[in-house]
Amino acid sequence: MALLSLLSLLVVFFVAFCFIPSSQPLPFILLHGIRSECSRPEVAETVEKLANFSGVEGHCLEVGNGVNDSLVMPIHKQVELVCQKVKVMDMFREGYNIVGLSQGNIIARGVIELCDGGPPVENYVSLAGPHAGVASIPGCGSTDICILLAELIKPLAYTDLVQENLAPSNYLKIPDAIPDYLKNCRFLPALNNEYPDRKNSTYKERLGSLDNLVLIMFENETVLIPKETSWFGYYQDGSFDTVLSPKQTKLYTEDWIGLKSMDEGGKVKFISVEGDHLQISDKDIKTYVVPYLKGNAGNSKLGS
Ligand SMILES: *[C@@H]1O[C@H](CO)[C@@H](O)[C@H](O)[C@H]1NC(C)=O
Ligand SMILES: *[C@@H]1O[C@H](CO)[C@@H](O)[C@H](O)[C@H]1NC(C)=O
Ligand SMILES: *[C@@H]1O[C@H](CO)[C@@H](O)[C@H](O)[C@H]1NC(C)=O
Ligand SMILES: *[C@@H]1O[C@H](CO)[C@@H](O)[C@H](O)[C@H]1NC(C)=O
Repeated sequence: MALLSLLSLLVVFFVAFCFIPSSQPLPFILLHGIRSECSRPEVAETVEKLANFSGVEGHCLEVGNGVNDSLVMPIHKQVELVCQKVKVMDMFREGYNIVGLSQGNIIARGVIELCDGGPPVENYVSLAGPHAGVASIPGCGSTDICILLAELIKPLAYTDLVQENLAPSNYLKIPDAIPDYLKNCRFLPALNNEYPDRKNSTYKERLGSLDNLVLIMFENETVLIPKETSWFGYYQDGSFDTVLSPKQTKLYTEDWIGLKSMDEGGKVKFISVEGDHLQISDKDIKTYVVPYLKGNAGNSKLGS
């Protein structure tokens, strides 16, 4: 008798299992970095690799005219363009995953947090994203000369002219110019809910609705200063000396955009790979990126 009920239980499970629809992997989009465009061989190759390794359809989504607009179009406009595109593309209706390269991550997060009525993003893999800002001219580095250069551009960086015409100025966070940054930088302070007097809870909700947020930092990074920005770590306000780990920042401890809650829910993967800016090996792509495109990674809902 006991055996019989055990058997029928097994049958029930088996039938249930077979009829649970197995979710189709979602398509992915790739957002390239500054001074780049979808037609660049290295970008096209990355998309092809991701598609090959995962077996999932994916596209590089162009922003405006490519190279020029990546440099001169304000980030909020770049976000709007991507938002409009994903809303009308039928293939994304059920949702999609995002892979961001460098500056493309500021756009990616903008789309996730700001795109009203956009399709849901399930997994987001960030490669070398300047999430907490960059402290010097991208590509310059943290040498004395670059810090001097940052000092020189300080009076200009947050002027309307620069903010409206140089995309990276929208996420330039000069550690010893924080009041000016908060007042006049046009994108990152809002995206990161940094304003002391107003936080938009919608941003937190939307970022928190991701299944996985994968933050890949490059150990030998020379473009993003500091490299820890890829994990939301950053210089302590006022100094170029101390880099706070992500968990030491107020953005995390006060949970401005939900990073802490997501982390506590096991949704944030802090990954460090060897190599300079975006120089990821095929092996690391397969280990750290591809599983999230196949929709069967870590925290995903496919427990069944
Ligand atoms: C992707 O797969 C196709 C077909 O197998 C192959 O021709 C191509 O070289 C692959 N591309 C990359 C970048 O691995
Ligand atoms: C980009 O800007 C350069 C210099 O202003 C110009 O020569 C070139 O035609 C522009 N390219 C596009 C695609 O707009
Ligand atoms: C918060 O952001 C959302 C998305 O951009 C926007 O629709 C909403 O109006 C914002 N709320 C406030 C109070 O600014
Ligand atoms: C990259 O950085 C790691 C850790 O800081 C170091 O061990 C490694 O030697 C570096 N690799 C190169 C190629 O510089």
